[in-house]
Amino acid sequence: MTTETMTRPVTLILLGPPGAGKGTQARMLEEKFGLVQLSTGDLLRGAVASGSPAGLAAKAVMEAGELVSDEIVLAVLQERLDQPDVAKGVILDGFPRTEGQAEALDGVMAARGAAVDQAISLEVNDEAMVTRVSGRYTCANCGEGYHDEFKRPETDGVCNKCQGTEFSRRADDNAETVRTRLSAYHEQTAPLISYYAKRGVLAKVPAMGEIDEIATKLGDIVSGLQGG
Ligand code: AP5
Repeated sequence: MTTETMTRPVTLILLGPPGAGKGTQARMLEEKFGLVQLSTGDLLRGAVASGSPAGLAAKAVMEAGELVSDEIVLAVLQERLDQPDVAKGVILDGFPRTEGQAEALDGVMAARGAAVDQAISLEVNDEAMVTRVSGRYTCANCGEGYHDEFKRPETDGVCNKCQGTEFSRRADDNAETVRTRLSAYHEQTAPLISYYAKRGVLAKVPAMGEIDEIATKLGDIVSGLQGG
């Protein structure tokens, strides 16, 4: 994919249960449109790895598949939003996840004289998500995502992007924890679909097809925002 210049910075939210493809699609949009992917899951895993107070508080909650407190999530996100590269426009991947987070985001955007441009709900079947998540692994060097069945490297054991040969799997990617994460999604995050529908910024995208087909649909939406 080539990098295209955005005509204006946009704020895009990807909603969807674990395994819906939020991270996969966010990285593709980042590459194509020069937007910045902000994954609260990645930010929290970074905090856990660094042993910061936020990370220490989040570790057990994440391993259990439950949601980290709004206070901690907002603190790690705010720190990231203070960095200058986000001025290019952002794809929020895994945030917001509760109504409290959505309201806090509205406040952050309003303080910057902006608003959420588009929330996209990736529509998938729960049972397929258990297979998707438990087969997932990433390049330990560059973070490129792969799947045992659906997205293998072109050469087995070698990352397409950086030629790294070390890969890792997430501690919360087992079938039992995925079911807890699916429940958390339906109870606490799915209500945000109507939250954004009421604001007139929601698009629902079927996301059970091929990764590239879904990327084309999302790219069309972003191109529309770019012109808007
Ligand atoms: P987070 O890291 O956000 O995980 P998640 O929402 O559970 O989502 P995943 O990363 O599992 O899935 P994804 O939709 O990105 O799918 P992917 O593209 O990788 O959160 C982890 C934890 O952090 C939470 O449980 C919580 O504890 C905490 N947390 C994070 N944010 C929080 C917040 N805002 N508030 C509170 N707590 C928070 O795809 C999955 C696999 O499927 C990949 O292998 C991929 O190659 C494959 N795949 C993707 N698309 C397709 C396709 N179309 N067909 C076939 N395979 C596909």
